[in-house]
Amino acid sequence: GIKIVTIGGGSSYTPELIEGFIKRYDELPVREIWLVDINKGKDKLNIVGNLAKRMVEKAGLPIDIHLTLNRREALKDADFVTTQFRVGLLDARAKDERIPLKYDVIGQETNGPGGLFKGLRTIPVILDICKDMEELCPDAWLVNFTNPAGMVTEAVLRYSPIKKVVGLCNVPIGMKMGIAKALDVDDSRVQVDFAGLNHMVFGLDVYLDGKSVKDQVITALGNPENEMTMKNIAGFAWDRDFIKGISLIPCGYHRYYFKTDEMLAEEKESSVTKGTRAEVVQQLEKDLFELYKDPELNVKPPQLEKRGGAYYSEAACSLINSIYNDKRDIQPVNTRNNGAIASIPDESAIEISCVITKEGPKPIAIGDLPVAVRGLVQQIKSFERMAAEAAVTGDYRTALVAMTINPLVPSDTIAKKILDDMLEAHKEDLPQF
Ligand code: NAD
Ligand code: G6P
Ligand code: MN
Repeated sequence: GIKIVTIGGGSSYTPELIEGFIKRYDELPVREIWLVDINKGKDKLNIVGNLAKRMVEKAGLPIDIHLTLNRREALKDADFVTTQFRVGLLDARAKDERIPLKYDVIGQETNGPGGLFKGLRTIPVILDICKDMEELCPDAWLVNFTNPAGMVTEAVLRYSPIKKVVGLCNVPIGMKMGIAKALDVDDSRVQVDFAGLNHMVFGLDVYLDGKSVKDQVITALGNPENEMTMKNIAGFAWDRDFIKGISLIPCGYHRYYFKTDEMLAEEKESSVTKGTRAEVVQQLEKDLFELYKDPELNVKPPQLEKRGGAYYSEAACSLINSIYNDKRDIQPVNTRNNGAIASIPDESAIEISCVITKEGPKPIAIGDLPVAVRGLVQQIKSFERMAAEAAVTGDYRTALVAMTINPLVPSDTIAKKILDDMLEAHKEDLPQF
């Protein structure tokens, strides 16, 4: 049987994952799931772990759920290691989102200054996990969901010996589902050619029953009635002429770059009226864990859909299933470029439609991205690389360069103010600085 280890097992998303393994049990015989957390997350781990146990019991499947704070014990002989941890928990995210707003800059926990700091906190931990994996389960696949997933995957590819790493995001599946809904068809009939970076991914073409319907989808995207976004991103409609001009399907996160002023105004306003997204999620999380405590509950509750990570288990479990069974189907994941996008270095992580084999994802080469977005994608990749380097070296100037070249940050002087403020606020979780 298969041994799965999930780091950050106390996450409220864990029931998603368990549901995904239960659904696929016939094809994917998981025997053990080890949920790993740290002392700070012990209560969450117990509550969600006990729900996980009730879920497999209800399904009548011989899957053993282990709860542990001992990562090394868990990793021994693992087949797949999935990561969904948050260093500093949601309090740290609230700082990531709030501090930059003081300087009229969007914080954003993956794309903006917030993403830089989430990366600085996370990358040392993921590299430690990689070291443990090298020793305890050298043949295992690392399936990373921890954000900023693109930057984290980049760091693993550059700074660890682990080659079997895949970064995951639910945005591409969310786009496909949104498109199917806008076209009013079942999503199984829709295929999208994805390429770009994590939270910077484009649909290059889209097919209904194999026939391109890109123009129809682009028209639908300019219609404010089709809220094609994620739960965590304000769903402003695209300018019709812009979207027709660019002739690509953007992801929800592109609003931070192409609608920066509207997004900043919205975030400033809502940070006062209802709190930043982290603060909203803190309440959602409390409510979810209250539900999870109910000893009668033995399925994933629908309230989890209020989180931005909908379809997470689809992405994670389909990927693991296709690797395990050498399915050779097409899935969008973060993987080593290997020349699939000409203007990105071979060794960098990209998010792209891949054929998923036993040997891992094989990216489907696109030639190059359209010139209108090529520069922005390269800029974000440079940001991710500088950020990963700063996370590994703890070098102040490298961090300042990363902050300054982020497209959401207007100048070196503002970058420095935000950087200094955030380094101070997060110092407990940044031992390398
Ligand atoms: P969360 O705040 O519930 O954190 C999950 C768990 O991680 C907590 O129980 C915490 O105690 C634990 N943790 C913290 N540091 C740890 C460490 N060093 N080792 C082991 N466990 C540790 O987080 P969440 O809101 O459930 O999100 C989890 C992660 O998944 C975040 O990084 C988030 O950004 C990411 N996420 C990614 C996507 C995606 O598309 N890739 C979607 C949703 C969430
Ligand atoms: C989307 C993104 C994730 C992100 C999440 C935030 O799903 O793909 O990368 O972590 O939204 O959701 P939340 O509910 O935590 O705001
Ligand atoms: Mn994501």
